Amino acid sequence: MAGTGLFAEILDGEHVYKYYADGEWKKSTSGKTVAIINPTTRKTQYKVQACSQEEVNKVMDLAKTAQKLWAKTPLWKRAELLHKAAAILKEHKAPIAECLVKEIAKPAKDSVTEVVRSGDLVSYTAEEGVRILGEGKFLVSDSFPGNERTKYCLTSKIPLGVVLAIPPFNYPVNLAVSKIAPALIAGNSIVLKPPTQGAVSCLHMVHCFHLAGFPKGLINCVTGKGSEIGDFLTMHPGVNCISFTGGDTGIAISKKAGMIPLQMELGGKDACIVLEDADLDLVAANIIKGGFSYSGQRCTAVKVVLVMESVADSLVEKVKAKVAKLTVGPPEDDCDITPVVSESSANYIEGLVKDAKEKGATFCQEYKREGNLIWPLLLDNVRPDMRIAWEEPFGPVLPVLRINSVEEGIHHCNASNFGLQGCIFTKDINKAMLISDAMETGTVQINSAPARGPDHFPFQGIKDSGIGSQGITNSINMMTKVKTTVINLPTPSYTMG
Ligand code: G3H
Repeated sequence: MAGTGLFAEILDGEHVYKYYADGEWKKSTSGKTVAIINPTTRKTQYKVQACSQEEVNKVMDLAKTAQKLWAKTPLWKRAELLHKAAAILKEHKAPIAECLVKEIAKPAKDSVTEVVRSGDLVSYTAEEGVRILGEGKFLVSDSFPGNERTKYCLTSKIPLGVVLAIPPFNYPVNLAVSKIAPALIAGNSIVLKPPTQGAVSCLHMVHCFHLAGFPKGLINCVTGKGSEIGDFLTMHPGVNCISFTGGDTGIAISKKAGMIPLQMELGGKDACIVLEDADLDLVAANIIKGGFSYSGQRCTAVKVVLVMESVADSLVEKVKAKVAKLTVGPPEDDCDITPVVSESSANYIEGLVKDAKEKGATFCQEYKREGNLIWPLLLDNVRPDMRIAWEEPFGPVLPVLRINSVEEGIHHCNASNFGLQGCIFTKDINKAMLISDAMETGTVQINSAPARGPDHFPFQGIKDSGIGSQGITNSINMMTKVKTTVINLPTPSYTMG
């Protein structure tokens, strides 16, 4: 159970969790806590420490000192500790998954999957790090015009320093370790700021790293109110890199952050373009998986279907039939559709639905909401003047726009301010490739719904969807910088007799 057994140490009284700094679990001197509301019951489930700016300053100092030693720790040793943490994480998947169910209403089975996926990600990162960080480059000067062979240039990758990791509520464990593991294997230290919903899952995950035996101060996790420590963290002079996943807060962070590398994964309005020759059963199955898994609360969810008019009726019927089979209810029962993360999120979704209603969209199901629980809804005949055609609901509501040409579909996709992923369904691979080239998104999936994984694939958004590329290899590289050493020789060669 969460907060018991090995995890008892992270708890301070009933349902109140400590923060992690200097290798220890601590209570904030602020004496304040932040409540985490269970999206299903809408009651306080847990509380976490409201860390102060002074505590953030201390953590930054600790992280800076610990990083210097860690950078000198042999790569194989860093990898060994990561493998250990991965094993502990997977061993304790049940209590961590329990937190995910309670904090973010993720269905029970998906919660377990998130933790296991995270353990696998950490292990893979350790292996990949050993492979790619052990390599460097060797250049000689006479390959550039006008130069003799008098300079030998050695390049290697060195860590950036302190990485600030800010994961989102929807994958608080997986999208935390996707930042922590690359940072650590590359020789950086970590300051983690979990999302409020998802913080306790994060704290449990961090404890697995603690149990693995990482040096004190190397990994730190501060909890608290964004309004109190958010800007303070992201603008802190001690931070050498920010890896953030979330909404448009990321755009604000990018504008305020200093001259440091940024890795930002923000929103998406992933389009699903369906051509006349598509296998409609495959499309319908992918629309359900892509649009409604975790109740649409994924940045890579299918967020707008752009279907050719000639097959639209048939596709909508197939999707409707599948929507009717989705189970709706609490995450503990492993329902397909569970409450969205907060009341404000549910209200926002409802606003989009009302706007579509007023402007004449066809409701394939009746709109129904109880508390934060919104029943899955397919909206047909959506037009570009409706908000839902452009905004991301981050909920189980999916708009269908009927198109009369491929160009119209591409135009809608590219007119979005987002550019995360998109997908195309057709049996014509040539057409698919041409459409993929024309779509202004970081990734295009052909004949499958958008998705981030497998976690070693590159993952990136353009426009308001982000900066930089993720995926294990890209993240390791992004969290390093190139260092060169040049050996200068007095003469180009020996004169041999
Ligand atoms: O919500 C954003 C995530 O990066 C999406 O990940 O495609 O594995 O659900 P996913």
